[in-house]
Amino acid sequence: MEDDLKNIVESAKTKVQAVTSRAGFEAFKAEISGPNGALTQVMKNMGSVAKADRPVFGKLINQAKQEVQAVYDKVLVAIDEAEIAAKLGPAIDPSLPSPEVAQGGFHPLTQIREEISRIFKQIGFTVAEGTEVETEYYCFDALNTPANHPARELQDTFYLPDDAQFGNVSKKDAERYLLRTHTSSVQIRTMLQNEPPLRIISPGRCFRRDTVDATHSANFHQVEGLYVDKNVTVRDLKAMLDYFFEQLLGKGTTTRFRPHFFPYTEPSFEVDFSSKHLAKLGSDWVEIAGCGMIEPEVFKSVDIDPEVYSGFAFGMGIERIAMIVYGIDDIRYFYQNDHRFLKQFS
Ligand code: DAH
Repeated sequence: MEDDLKNIVESAKTKVQAVTSRAGFEAFKAEISGPNGALTQVMKNMGSVAKADRPVFGKLINQAKQEVQAVYDKVLVAIDEAEIAAKLGPAIDPSLPSPEVAQGGFHPLTQIREEISRIFKQIGFTVAEGTEVETEYYCFDALNTPANHPARELQDTFYLPDDAQFGNVSKKDAERYLLRTHTSSVQIRTMLQNEPPLRIISPGRCFRRDTVDATHSANFHQVEGLYVDKNVTVRDLKAMLDYFFEQLLGKGTTTRFRPHFFPYTEPSFEVDFSSKHLAKLGSDWVEIAGCGMIEPEVFKSVDIDPEVYSGFAFGMGIERIAMIVYGIDDIRYFYQNDHRFLKQFS
């Protein structure tokens, strides 16, 4: 009997080598531990064993059972592993280079916008938000831009249908909604909601009915700036823009002001800059911003007393700055989502 048990265990150890699948395992196990299995048969003989021999016999059987169980456990682990490996496919070769992991980056316009905001925040400006859908009042009337001004023409501005509704931008009945043509509307929103002194910038998207070409886009971005306090002069404006452009475009950058006209500032200027970036473009001075001292009519429309307060405002295009800084010659690249273009900036 002892020999029988030994044989069963030995034969289990040999036969298990041929077991490679779950079905094969079940058949193998049935041959040993099933109702008619070899081990079961031996256990059935227990009855015919002399009483005195039973403890020894019982012990031998338990030992054989444990050994057989160990054989089962081992082969089951091997079957599990084989099944997982089959699901995973061919083995991984750790000596191969890892697949390219595409890492995202910020869009060049976002990078420039963030850099502009960073510089202004350092000199005490906060970032104010406006809305892209505006009313004629915020975009034009309150900015001293009367109804007959060319900027308000149908070919310059996108108006929304008369029955359009925007709950968060309230308008008077006679007004139309439009897509803002500049960020200057945020000046009005800011001055209506806050008391001077004020120091804000407001980056954001603007829209004009421009025919798209290398330097024009119907959809572009600006940064507006507004500074209101007592005794603010053109000198403050010039000094601040000089500081800003030197920070943005590098040491040695200078600006010059050319007289211009904007309805909401008096005097008004166009700002040109000169810097090392211009070597790429082959010119000495390039226009970069518009600015001026806030027109008293604008202060009146937001209930600020122009006898007490003065201030300046400025606006600049983010695309234009990005094109200069990065040497990009076509504005359309910014919007085409071409990975070959975008990945150069991340
Ligand atoms: N809004 C002007 C534009 O879109 C830019 C500008 C000029 C903004 C003068 C200003 C300003 O705040 O004072 O061309």
